[in-house]
Amino acid sequence: MQKLTPLDAWVLSTYQRLESLDVPVFDLTTTRDIRPLPRTVSSGTLYSLPTALPRQLKTLGAYLQDEQGSLDEALSAVQKLSLLFRYLASPLRFEPYNESPVHKAVPSARCMYPLQFVLLFKQAERIQAYSYQPDFHALQPMALPASPDLASAPDGASLLCVAQIWKTAEKYGEFAHFPVVLEAGHAYSQSLHLRGLLGWDTSRSPIAAESMHCLAKGQWEMVLFSLSLDELQEQHLQALPCATAQLARVGENPGLSERFARLPAFNTLFKQGRRLTTEQPGGRIQSPAGKPTDKDFLQLCRARHSGNDRSGLAPVLARVPARTLTTVQTTFDALRHRRGIGEEETHLKVSFAWLAGGDVKVGLYDLQGRWLTPQMDEAEFIRHVRRILPYKLMRFNTSAMSLIVFFSTDPVQALERFGEAAFRNMHMAAGAAAQDMSLTAAAMGMFSRPVRMMREERIEQALPVGGQVLYQVLCGFNRRSNLTFEVL
Ligand SMILES: Cc1cc2nc3c(=O)[nH]c(=O)nc-3n(C[C@H](O)[C@H](O)[C@H](O)COP(=O)(O)O)c2cc1C
Repeated sequence: MQKLTPLDAWVLSTYQRLESLDVPVFDLTTTRDIRPLPRTVSSGTLYSLPTALPRQLKTLGAYLQDEQGSLDEALSAVQKLSLLFRYLASPLRFEPYNESPVHKAVPSARCMYPLQFVLLFKQAERIQAYSYQPDFHALQPMALPASPDLASAPDGASLLCVAQIWKTAEKYGEFAHFPVVLEAGHAYSQSLHLRGLLGWDTSRSPIAAESMHCLAKGQWEMVLFSLSLDELQEQHLQALPCATAQLARVGENPGLSERFARLPAFNTLFKQGRRLTTEQPGGRIQSPAGKPTDKDFLQLCRARHSGNDRSGLAPVLARVPARTLTTVQTTFDALRHRRGIGEEETHLKVSFAWLAGGDVKVGLYDLQGRWLTPQMDEAEFIRHVRRILPYKLMRFNTSAMSLIVFFSTDPVQALERFGEAAFRNMHMAAGAAAQDMSLTAAAMGMFSRPVRMMREERIEQALPVGGQVLYQVLCGFNRRSNLTFEVL
């Protein structure tokens, strides 16, 4: 098997991926067949989660200040669990004419949804796992292999996130891990927010995700994070309606290593990741003033979207009210402190390319609002930013974008600090921050499109973003001409 050092992998993941990595969906010149995933149908036992749920729970402002609400106090344990899965992994919107019709609160590249969520209960000798089935909004008991990992796990309930790399590998080939791990970062932040919103205790340490190999089926799966869900017990599920249903599944195609030569080397590197060093939530929360904090948190999760339009990404020029950039920055920062940021995120630089003008000059700003490009005139700055498109024919209109947020890191410093774990952990941290940015954008009435397939090097060379851009979020206002049904 070909080996990759972490630094080789960082280099290959930059613009070089477009030329050097074998990625069927980047390959516009040859017709590379993308194998469909094999489908099977089998019957399974499902415990249905309740769907009569409140649509509003707490305003963003009340959540940031950790205020008790009358609604969340009245919720039962299964209602809380149901809300957690609804806003983490269940379909929320159906857009039948969109290229990808099913949308959730956490975005997914091309809506492939490669994350599986598992609820694990351990009480003395008894261990039981349930996998969440999004299409049914139900839990399915899972058979677990006998494993010393489980025997050493602490008692209590935990949520675990299993990445199914095989799901993205057919389209993303040797680049398959990147969108999955970034998406897991989004899901990590979202589940921390939901746990905080629902008032679950956060004091118990979670099961060590890195030792839960027994949940991963085969070499192309890995457990990326875990969260303790105190107060939840397996008995709470006993009252749920239980039925046998026919479940349609997709499975893994054999031969991925032969098809994509460097995929096993990336797999080995991504498996070196560790649990993110998450702090206790709280800390420095400077609450943003004004409108965004009046909105209900659940409503924000439903409103988050990537600006999809039937004709592509079609932002419209919009006049923004005064202090919009400052409100975006304080809301984003308050959200990440509320969920509790870890050390990885202190190695993540966040820069804001402000394009909307108004009371703030067009240019690049850091999180504290310092202007980083005073030497560059507006036209030159915009020219640099618009060069992010990887090819001309993309169905993107960058000319009316209001804001682009870059998440970057210095790979050498990150490797020095976190060793081989840096590779996976820094991408997860970038994904987590991008979810906070997406919620912030929703609070401002903006779309937020996370992107990892742009020409980041053109930005790194032209603008002081500080290192390698791991991820970016494009924000703005758009016309929405999608026919949309809300689900559940
Ligand atoms: C990790 C990740 C990478 C993505 N990369 C791109 C990209 O390079 N280009 C793009 O147009 N959209 C990209 N997206 C956006 C998704 O395609 C979008 O979230 C998806 O269509 C779902 O739409 P929704 O967010 O409105 O639910 C990415 C999303 C994620 C989570």
